[in-house]
Amino acid sequence: MCFLTRLGNRTGGRGRAIVIVSLVGYCVSAAAVACSSPSAPESCSIISQNCPAPPPSFSKDVQPLIQNYCVMCHSPGGIGEPTADLTSYAGVYKARAEVQQQVYQCLMPNQDASPPPPKLTSDQRETIVAWVACDAPNN
Ligand code: HEC
Repeated sequence: MCFLTRLGNRTGGRGRAIVIVSLVGYCVSAAAVACSSPSAPESCSIISQNCPAPPPSFSKDVQPLIQNYCVMCHSPGGIGEPTADLTSYAGVYKARAEVQQQVYQCLMPNQDASPPPPKLTSDQRETIVAWVACDAPNN
């Protein structure tokens, strides 16, 4: 947010030039901060991407999370269905690479929706990401 025009018009002469220069400096640094981590919002914690032994279970660990956090949009007729139908193992397996990426980066559940859906915890994110890292077994 930069209010260069509005503030600039209120001052005059040299004063205005100084205000504009300092505001430009502020805006450049603010933009730099905003762009420092383009793919991960600040509240999105770093989680492991390794496959643990034993791998998480699809039916016991992953499927309940998909059911509670994703299927309300990613089922036939839902707003997320055209990109991924997550109602079956086959659907999740097919979209596994995108599912892993979206969950790792906290891009899903889609917070642009109104009202925003519940978010996954870090542990829940790690379960899904780790399961895909294990090549998404139907276990
Ligand atoms: C509030 C509805 C909603 C929820 C809940 C939701 N999604 Fe989405 N999802 C969308 C919409 C809409 C799109 C397509 C537009 C976009 O990419 O933002 C999408 C896109 C995707 C894509 C495709 C992204 C791409 O660009 O390839 C994947 C994969 C995905 N979602 C996975 C998930 C997973 C996994 C969950 C649960 C952890 C989830 N979504 C929860 C609405 C939702």
